[in-house]
Amino acid sequence: MFDYDGEMRFLQGRFRAACGVRAGDRVLDVGCGGGQTTREAAADAGRGRVVGVDVSERMLEDARRRTAEAHVSYLLADAATYDFGAAAFDVCISRFGVMFFDDPVGAFANLRRALRPGGRLVAMVWQARAENEWAQVIPATIGGDAEVRDESPFSLGDPDVVRGILGSAGFGDVTFAAVRERLYYGPDVETAYENVLQLREPLALLAELAPADAERARADLRAMLAAHDSGDGVLFDSAAWIVTAE
Ligand SMILES: C[S@@+](CC[C@H](N)C(=O)[O-])C[C@H]1O[C@@H](n2cnc3c(N)ncnc32)[C@H](O)[C@@H]1O
Repeated sequence: MFDYDGEMRFLQGRFRAACGVRAGDRVLDVGCGGGQTTREAAADAGRGRVVGVDVSERMLEDARRRTAEAHVSYLLADAATYDFGAAAFDVCISRFGVMFFDDPVGAFANLRRALRPGGRLVAMVWQARAENEWAQVIPATIGGDAEVRDESPFSLGDPDVVRGILGSAGFGDVTFAAVRERLYYGPDVETAYENVLQLREPLALLAELAPADAERARADLRAMLAAHDSGDGVLFDSAAWIVTAE
C-alpha cells in the first residue's frame, strides 16, 4: 500500500498544529484513509470522541489495524451525504480528503450540519497542479494522454473557488495558509518507484501507452526519481493550502 504517512512527513506537523484539537473536542476526520490524522486528533482530544470516515473499506481496514484508542471509531460512508447527526462534532478535519466531491457545495453543507454552531473546519488541500512539482514532473516524465490526467486532487486549489463553495455551504471566516513543503516518496529510488506505481494517475497514464513506450516511461521514471534523490530521501516540492472555516 502507498506510504501516504511517509509522503506527508514534512506536512503533517503543520496540519496537526492548524487542527488545534483540544481536550474534549469531538472530531470528524473526513477521508481519513489509514487514520494517522485520526489517531493524532484522538491523542489531542483526550477522551473526546473521534470518528474517521472514508469510502474505502481497504483504507479503513488499515486504519483499524493501526488504532488502539477506544474513543476512535471508523465509519465506511460517503461524507458528502452521510447523516452524521446535527451538531455532532466540534471540529471537522481532513488531510487531502475533501477534493473529490461531485457536489462540493452539498457535501460541505452536509459537513457544516455535522458541526455545532461555532465549530471549525480545517482542511489541507493541494494548490493548483502548476504549483506542485510532483504533480507536474511525474506525469510529464511518463507522457501519454493528457486526457487521462486526474485533476480532482487540485479541485480546491483556487481560494476564490473555495471561498465560493464554503460560503454557499454556510461556512464563514474562511482563511488560507500556504504550506510549501517537501513531499517524501521514499528513502531510495527503488522504494520511490514502487510508491509512484501505486498512484492512480501514473498507473492510468502508463496503461494508455504501447508496451515499448511504457517500458521507456518506466526507465525515465527511475532516472527522474534518481535526480530527486537528495541522499536523505526522494523529494519533490509541493504546495498546499490549509483552509479553515467556521
Ligand atoms: C488522498 S487520500 C488521503 C487519506 C488521509 N486523509 C491521509 O491523509 O492519509 C483521500 C481519501 O479520501 C477518501 N474519500 C474520497 N472521497 C470521499 C468521500 N466522499 N467520503 C469519504 N471519504 C472519501 C478516499 O477514499 C481516500 O482514502
